[in-house]
Amino acid sequence: MPKDRLLITGGSGLLALNWACAMRERWDVMLGTHRHRVSLRGATALPVDLDDADRLSRQFAELSPDLVVHAAGLTSVDACEADPALARRVNAELARNVAAAAAGRNIRLVHISTDHLFAGTRSGYREDDAPEPLNEYARSKLLAEEWVRQAHPQALILRTNFFGWGHARRQSFSDWILQALRAGKEITMFDDVYFTPILADALATAAHRLVTLSAGGTFNVPGDERVSKYEFALRLARAFDLPAELVRPGRLRDAGLAARRPADMSLDAARARATIGAGLGRLDDFFHALRRQESEGRREELLHAVME
Ligand SMILES: NC(=O)c1ccc[n+]([C@@H]2O[C@H](COP(=O)([O-])OP(=O)(O)OC[C@H]3O[C@@H](n4cnc5c(N)ncnc54)[C@H](OP(=O)(O)O)[C@@H]3O)[C@@H](O)[C@H]2O)c1
Repeated sequence: MPKDRLLITGGSGLLALNWACAMRERWDVMLGTHRHRVSLRGATALPVDLDDADRLSRQFAELSPDLVVHAAGLTSVDACEADPALARRVNAELARNVAAAAAGRNIRLVHISTDHLFAGTRSGYREDDAPEPLNEYARSKLLAEEWVRQAHPQALILRTNFFGWGHARRQSFSDWILQALRAGKEITMFDDVYFTPILADALATAAHRLVTLSAGGTFNVPGDERVSKYEFALRLARAFDLPAELVRPGRLRDAGLAARRPADMSLDAARARATIGAGLGRLDDFFHALRRQESEGRREELLHAVME
């Protein structure tokens, strides 16, 4: 039986590559690319122009995906702060184009949003809490959500924060920690910034489960545990048998970063858990899976998957 067709935008990105790896056995995966070329076993990479909804709609007709995951974006918080118009163009306008083109062809859409939408003055934000974006990245992602809802009312909008293996041009948060510790370097991690991270593969699995259940609307899809960035790094170090004493605590307020950032990005997963009927996963299980992925060759495979 032919496999269903999955098109992921932002095909050279951290999330898209790991999502493709997680789904390539069961889905016919297409990675929509922009500036970078991609070569990944079990996936077809092809340029997909998100700039024009009508052109995109015609490309959707040619490719006939059963599901589109929109994972393209301008993800550097500081780059968004430096150029708010570009942040709006890439994060919000392209998302609207994708949503309009998918809706016009009756194609299911998963739009990837963020945990960054709130002021971060408390923990466990729910889907219906009022967003209070602190920076241009958050403002552009919030606008994207609004426009996706308008253009494609059945779209699944997932708020999340993930990690997984990156590539030579895009290190993930976990890559950065592991690389430093493996080189014997001390690192300083914020102990006053909290989040609820999920492994990219677990996010993909939860998203596909929600799609299968015909869920639509906004869902938080975080991991089950709220940790500080410091605790995340300590536990990652231990899970990989690396020297945890190289991880030092630091404070966000001392870091002097350009854009304001929420101190607590943790999300409440109750809606997703109730819909799926299971938890989304615990950190030690994610780290165990990350280590297994490395031993199975994922790190090495992704490292060389993206080219100029
Ligand atoms: N990383 C996180 O922890 C995190 C947390 C919460 C939410 N998110 C959201 O998750 C999604 C995926 O993030 P990621 O970290 O996987 O992204 P990433 O690694 O930074 O990759 C971004 C992707 O977007 C593409 N892109 C950028 N500008 C584009 C344009 N004008 N037209 C078409 N494609 C364009 C890039 O392609 P080129 O490089 O070829 O331009 C790249 O493939 C984003 O929506 C992000 O906001 C990420």
